[in-house]
Amino acid sequence: MEMFGHVLFVVLLGGLSLPVLLHAQDDQSGFISLDCGLPRNSNYTETTTGINYISDAAFTDTGIGMKMMPEFQKDVQQMVWSVRSFPDGIRNCYKFNLTKGNKYLIRAYFLYGNYDQQDKVPGFDLYIGPDKWESIKLESASSAVIKEIIHVLPSSYLDFCLVNTGSGTPFISALEIRLLNSTIYKTDQSRISLNDFSTLDAGSTINKTVRYKDDVYDRIWLPYYGDDNWTSISTSLIVDSESSNIYKPPSIVMKSAGTPKNASKPLNVRMETGDDTSLRFYVYLHFAEIQELQANESRECNISLNGKHWYGPFSPKYLSTTTVYSPSTLTGGNYSISIYKTENATHPPILNALEIFTVKEFLQAQTDPKDVDAITNIKSMYGVKRNWQGDPCAPQAFVWDGLNCRDDSSNPPRIISLDLSNNNMTGIVPDFLSQLPLQVLNLEGNKLTGSIPAQLLERSKNGSLSLSVGGNPNLCSSVSCKKKKSNIIVPAAAAVAALLLLIAAALAIFFILKKRRQKVGKVQKESNYNIVDSFESKKLRFSYSEIVTMTNNFERIVGKGGFGTVYHGCLGEMDQVAVKMLSQSSVQGFEQYQAEVKLLMRVHHRNLVSLVGYCDEGDKIALIYEYMANGNLQEHLSDSRTSMILSWEGRLRIAVESAQGLEYLHNGCKPPIIHRDVKSPNILLSHKFQAKLADFGLSKSFATDDNTHVSTVVAGTPGYLDPSYYVSNRLTEKSDVYSFGVVLLEIITSKSPIIRTNEYEKTHLRQWVDSLLAQGDIRNIVDSRLQGDFDINSVWKAVEVAMACLSPSANKRPSMTVVVMELNESLATEMARIYQSGSGYDSKDSIDPMISMDLGTEMNPGAR
Ligand SMILES: *[C@@H]1O[C@H](CO)[C@@H](O)[C@H](O)[C@H]1NC(C)=O
Ligand SMILES: *[C@@H]1O[C@H](CO)[C@@H](O)[C@H](O)[C@H]1NC(C)=O
Ligand SMILES: *[C@@H]1O[C@H](CO)[C@@H](O)[C@H](O)[C@H]1NC(C)=O
Ligand SMILES: *[C@@H]1O[C@H](CO)[C@@H](O)[C@H](O)[C@H]1NC(C)=O
Ligand SMILES: *[C@@H]1O[C@H](CO)[C@@H](O)[C@H](O)[C@H]1NC(C)=O
Ligand SMILES: *[C@@H]1O[C@H](CO)[C@@H](O)[C@H](O)[C@H]1NC(C)=O
Ligand SMILES: *[C@@H]1O[C@H](CO)[C@@H](O)[C@H](O)[C@H]1NC(C)=O
Ligand SMILES: *[C@@H]1O[C@H](CO)[C@@H](O)[C@H](O)[C@H]1NC(C)=O
Ligand SMILES: *[C@@H]1O[C@H](CO)[C@@H](O)[C@H](O)[C@H]1NC(C)=O
Ligand SMILES: *[C@@H]1O[C@H](CO)[C@@H](O)[C@H](O)[C@H]1NC(C)=O
Ligand SMILES: *[C@@H]1O[C@H](CO)[C@@H](O)[C@H](O)[C@H]1NC(C)=O
Repeated sequence: MEMFGHVLFVVLLGGLSLPVLLHAQDDQSGFISLDCGLPRNSNYTETTTGINYISDAAFTDTGIGMKMMPEFQKDVQQMVWSVRSFPDGIRNCYKFNLTKGNKYLIRAYFLYGNYDQQDKVPGFDLYIGPDKWESIKLESASSAVIKEIIHVLPSSYLDFCLVNTGSGTPFISALEIRLLNSTIYKTDQSRISLNDFSTLDAGSTINKTVRYKDDVYDRIWLPYYGDDNWTSISTSLIVDSESSNIYKPPSIVMKSAGTPKNASKPLNVRMETGDDTSLRFYVYLHFAEIQELQANESRECNISLNGKHWYGPFSPKYLSTTTVYSPSTLTGGNYSISIYKTENATHPPILNALEIFTVKEFLQAQTDPKDVDAITNIKSMYGVKRNWQGDPCAPQAFVWDGLNCRDDSSNPPRIISLDLSNNNMTGIVPDFLSQLPLQVLNLEGNKLTGSIPAQLLERSKNGSLSLSVGGNPNLCSSVSCKKKKSNIIVPAAAAVAALLLLIAAALAIFFILKKRRQKVGKVQKESNYNIVDSFESKKLRFSYSEIVTMTNNFERIVGKGGFGTVYHGCLGEMDQVAVKMLSQSSVQGFEQYQAEVKLLMRVHHRNLVSLVGYCDEGDKIALIYEYMANGNLQEHLSDSRTSMILSWEGRLRIAVESAQGLEYLHNGCKPPIIHRDVKSPNILLSHKFQAKLADFGLSKSFATDDNTHVSTVVAGTPGYLDPSYYVSNRLTEKSDVYSFGVVLLEIITSKSPIIRTNEYEKTHLRQWVDSLLAQGDIRNIVDSRLQGDFDINSVWKAVEVAMACLSPSANKRPSMTVVVMELNESLATEMARIYQSGSGYDSKDSIDPMISMDLGTEMNPGAR
């Protein structure tokens, strides 16, 4: 009786191999032999096997080399003396460049040898790609475990991983990979690998394990003597298996055989699986006649499986190998193989060698190879460490930090979101980033240089990619500044850079007619040539030719308003700007208001869009603004961005921030600045989704195209305009408060200020909210896309604030100072809910999670 199957064989490592050189094989070309933990770049030839072992350092990013205690080294081969230990991280991997579709024998050795002097034998898991292969359990410090598998590679790389399961630090002693001929060990299913095998040298006369160099594939053959009823026979002649048999069992294995003591009895091999009836097998039996038979002699065998005829009759060929195998899996339970002689045979049955495999299925889909290539390139290019090992997306538990993947089970996972912010990355933004099907790409806070690949820009422009590149002082994020124009602008180390959907609608700016204006000439021309260390440091006047350069000849329109067109531009190599060219009819009177424009350049607040420069050359009037990568609030509230829905918390942050901007205009500026056109298209969002008010103070000075009658201009936009303006004809701070109340309702409801109730009728958002409030129906006021994911008290507070702002009587409206306070309370209530529900963020990330995406992922735009 012999026990096979799930019991892995634990081999004596000492003196494993023979110095017998039958074929003088010395071709290790299909071999990778790693002595794990060996110092980088070192190598040696192991004396008992002649196998060349090299250091594993080139195949993994992590782990540390250690040596086992000397007392354990005595009886074992050199390749297990050192180990690589992985104290950090959950999953640590080796990665090998191999050939897709090829069949490999993978063999891993584990011998603890108290290498860490902890006297604690660890347990851990092994993974191949995204699938768990085995759990490693070691019995003692001196017990060795060898795991083997024959695996067809589904991709051009092999990820071999050790996973910490909480039972000690994973380690590995040696790792061997052998290329097999794909025609052997065929399985009936493509995802099956042959696991846990017993490769047995039946009736061995040498009583030693056999491997390379006798075995070209470096299988390890163990001596096997069957049961009590077996005996052995052998020959001194060479059995040819190299040329006649694709499995190429070594001659030294084939030249001995087991045979029954009683010639009329069968040769029995029993496989027992214990309780595990789910195990499945493949069996390979190798036969060769090793006795020279006379004419009147014969050996003829039948093989039965569990008592049923399986194969035969057949006669092994003299000194030549015949392999009999199961073409499909043998399922479940105990198996008994009997080899017996047919009735007229004069000689008993024999068996020279046998191999028994259990089936291991690898069913997890690996990440799409294109994505793996791209992300691997990114990893090596930027030297990203983190936990970037093994398959990027699978299994779910080990998805690489900073990645989000789409995994719809029928297709390979794809990488759809990549956050590389604050990673100290240097160098350029490579083209291959655009190979990933990304919806979100965050490169903020690095030291990237050069420009953003055009494809990425394009995708961010059409809204399919949310791209964040701020905080890379030397990165130009526009097509228009690809070439360095040394004669124009000296590169400066500047602040903002980002890109994306542009500035939209934005500003109502006006100019009053005047034919010619003279240059003001106060700003020195030379300052154009040593521009700006940052937007904050110098604000200035630009020549028209600089505007042309800046916008790459007005290459990219990012918005249009009543006053003219807004273009994307680059200041120097890195700062992105929005350049508004005032339309012909708007340019007059600029001189008159120039002082005012300059004044506005001095207004700075983190929640106000900075005016960073202007141009007034003849009839070319331009205003240059800080670029706001994420467009305006209106776009984010409307349906147009279906992939992202602002969370309640995100909305409150935007409300608080824009309220702060307005509060600063009212109370922080002397004299106070009345915005006069507070509306959702005038609230712009930075790459970090920081809200900033745009266009403050300008509507007082300039007229729109359609309203060129100076000072009495009705600033403001229908739906936002303070009704008391019609009475007083005056706009005050409280008019801004009213308009802000409208914005607040937009934020809460995602509806526009004027709602069309039917073909003929419109109603104001305030009335609509009023009517629902009258019914006490607060939930239905809130944007239904939030699906109730908010604190109801937080919403109540916000609605109350909005309604107070919308009070018909200006006196009853709160000041912006009060509005800021109340909104902050509302935000705090919502944050408390988020923490309590534990639905999110650890304390570090909690500052900022602005957006929940419909993919069930969260985006963390990073701390401000
Ligand atoms: C082994 O190391 C020697 C130097 O010690 C080096 O010349 C040789 O290329 C190395 N061989 C392999 C296979 O790495
Ligand atoms: C694997 O191949 C990639 C390119 O395909 C290369 O960058 C990398 O260095 C290779 N890795 C090893 C260990 O040879
Ligand atoms: C694999 O085996 C087949 C059949 O014996 C043979 O034709 C082929 O050349 C072998 N391939 C390699 C790479 O040795
Ligand atoms: C094979 O060798 C082992 C020890 O190495 C010994 O215990 C066993 O009896 C031997 N078997 C035969 C058949 O010689
Ligand atoms: C050996 O053969 C005898 C007689 O057929 C049988 O009773 C016995 O079970 C066999 N031993 C084994 C281990 O199968
Ligand atoms: C061999 O087996 C046959 C049939 O089982 C039996 O009749 C015979 O006595 C056995 N011979 C010996 C020497 O045990
Ligand atoms: C075969 O013939 C030889 C003589 O030619 C004889 O010695 C031997 O016993 C025979 N073998 C059998 C199995 O009959
Ligand atoms: C296999 O055999 C063992 C012992 O002979 C027995 O305990 C076990 O139940 C058998 N398993 C099955 C599935 O028959
Ligand atoms: C061997 O197998 C053949 C084919 O199934 C069958 O005809 C024959 O009877 C078998 N011989 C014995 C001794 O069972
Ligand atoms: C066995 O030998 C006898 C007598 O020579 C013959 O009649 C019979 O057909 C043979 N059986 C087989 C299966 O070859
Ligand atoms: C980036 O570099 C700084 C200073 O060299 C270092 O303190 C910081 O840990 C690095 N961050 C990362 C993510 O590597």
